[in-house]
Amino acid sequence: MGTISHLSLLLFFTLTLSVDAKLNLDAADNHALITILEDLGVYGDLRRPDNLCNTAGIFCERRISNESYVLKVTGIVFKTQRLRGSLSPAIGQLSELKELSFPNNYLLGGIPPQIANCRKLEVLKLRNNKLSGEVPGELSALLRLRILDLSSNKFSGDLGFLKYYPNLEKLSLDNNMFTGKVPVSLRSFRNLRFFNVSGNSFLEGPLPALNQLESPSSGLQKTSYKRVPKRYILAESTSSSTNQTRNISSSSNNLQASAPAPSPMATPSKHKKSNRKKTLGVILGLFVGSIAGIISAIIFTVIFKLLVIAIKTRAKDSGPAIFSQSIKAEELAFLEDDDAVAALQIIGRGGCGEVYKTELPEGKIKTIAIKKIIQPPKDAAELTEEDTKYLNKKMRQIRSEIQTVGQIRHRNLLPLLAHVSRPTCHYLVYEFMKNGSLQDIIQQVNDGTREFDWPRRHKIAVGVASGLEYLHLDHTPRIVHRDLKPANVLLDDDMEARIADFGLAKSIPDAQTHMTSSNVAGTLGYIAPEYHQTMKFTDKCDIYSFGVLLGILVIGKLPSDEFFQHTSEVSLVKWMRNVMTSDNPKEAIDPTLLGNGYEEQMLLVLKIACFCTLDKPKERPNSKECRIMLAQIDPLNLVQSNDLHVD
Ligand SMILES: Nc1ncnc2c1ncn2[C@@H]1O[C@H](COP(=O)(O)OP(=O)(O)O)[C@@H](O)[C@H]1O
Ligand SMILES: [Mg+2]
Repeated sequence: MGTISHLSLLLFFTLTLSVDAKLNLDAADNHALITILEDLGVYGDLRRPDNLCNTAGIFCERRISNESYVLKVTGIVFKTQRLRGSLSPAIGQLSELKELSFPNNYLLGGIPPQIANCRKLEVLKLRNNKLSGEVPGELSALLRLRILDLSSNKFSGDLGFLKYYPNLEKLSLDNNMFTGKVPVSLRSFRNLRFFNVSGNSFLEGPLPALNQLESPSSGLQKTSYKRVPKRYILAESTSSSTNQTRNISSSSNNLQASAPAPSPMATPSKHKKSNRKKTLGVILGLFVGSIAGIISAIIFTVIFKLLVIAIKTRAKDSGPAIFSQSIKAEELAFLEDDDAVAALQIIGRGGCGEVYKTELPEGKIKTIAIKKIIQPPKDAAELTEEDTKYLNKKMRQIRSEIQTVGQIRHRNLLPLLAHVSRPTCHYLVYEFMKNGSLQDIIQQVNDGTREFDWPRRHKIAVGVASGLEYLHLDHTPRIVHRDLKPANVLLDDDMEARIADFGLAKSIPDAQTHMTSSNVAGTLGYIAPEYHQTMKFTDKCDIYSFGVLLGILVIGKLPSDEFFQHTSEVSLVKWMRNVMTSDNPKEAIDPTLLGNGYEEQMLLVLKIACFCTLDKPKERPNSKECRIMLAQIDPLNLVQSNDLHVD
């Protein structure tokens, strides 16, 4: 059975791939690509220049153009290939380009400003080349950039191109010749997790230090700074960090970085020449050394113990843990006041408590959603010592898992902004998603109050798959969601899917489940069949839930819809399977989507939904395969999807 379904999966891949194989590369892209490869200095070496999409390092995807399919270039990746050419301005003609990576080559010249036309560019890796000149200010038009790595080149000029990158997660500018100051606009890059500007000896003035990033205006937020986890890594080399400290402490004096003087500690003042003196010196040295050793050991032990005590005290502290630069601890002080919380607007009620909405007086994030998680009663008189120990352990576990979740940033995962721990509950603070959840939208569609076209549905499917892929395959340790469902897929301003409630299901009390049995995870209608036997939630259980979600997107009905009660299968998954193997599989498609020309694609998505919901977990694809399959059948991750508007 396993082999058969793997075969069918393979067949599916082969079919979609072979469809692509017959397609031609878009003429304009082909023309631009030839120029680009010529300028890079690789075109002459290609074996089959007639079919550039088959070249290693060139990635193409299917797109629709003039009502027919073509291949468009979405990625050019040449790592460590001894390239000695330059970056061609023709790059700007590749409108679908998502990745441009040439690390570890010998590329010369600069970044052509035309790159600003690649509006879909997410990854630009030019690390370790010989690129020079100023980075064009036009680069700031690339709002989708997630990774910008220009390190180890000879770029000069100021960092004026760092204007606004809302999606930027990683910024590496180290080891160049940049000048001027690091702009404070970095604070507005809400997804930035890492940046490195070390090894730029001509950068002046202070780096936006942690506290400055967090609280630019005044010193009054000092407490919030102390609690801010280290989200930005100011990865300075020893020399520049020495200067950095000096810069910050000497306010804004524009000190230039320079190599530090050799450490004075290590240098003995003079060598004695005579042997006797030498021996004496050695003995004295040993004596002084061991005394110094003992003293420093004592000092270290004391400091270490003090630190442990400080950490323990802080862990007991119920103050907020802040995970984002966009929010300040002071703004959440009201959560300490039960009356203030009771007065908040309730926007939803989940298995673990209410979800509130409130406005913040200042800061970038104006509206937040606060999820209350009620803890099991702690102070009941009949609690034994064992119970108390267990609960304390549970509390620590919750805190550490929340700490992990707080660090996670991915465009399809709803970031946790803060965590406030109270004696009887936890508050988790998120950005409020005004487009609501996928569940809300499906319900509105069924009520006839909203339209929900196929491109938007497809975009959500791909988004959820790539969020899952991050949790399952990119994050260590792997995170299994355990409660993937439309209510946990929220939609941001661009209608991009943001998976909510990930990473907490394990530690948060069982109340979070929506089932009657207190030990069961997940929500009825989305739980993989094997879970009932194994009681273990694996990544393949998430895939099953994802399959149900895909089914919902195409069928337009939730598993709880009355419709399924009136079918012989009484279940969305079984009904979907039967219709898909019947003579008329189109019957499964949401009637409001019929006649839109996307029927074939929707059937393909239903096919993936069927793969994901196969009974045997091993036969289901993994999240990466899901994402790839969905992206392959995407006909219009293009012009239209940019122009989508929420009704
Ligand atoms: N960040 C958010 N922005 C907007 N709405 C939210 C947010 N978080 C939760 N909600 C709403 O609150 C509801 C309840 O959330 P939750 O407690 O997680 O329960 P569930 O996910 O089981 O519905 C959600 O269905 C959603 O409509
Ligand atoms: Mg939820």
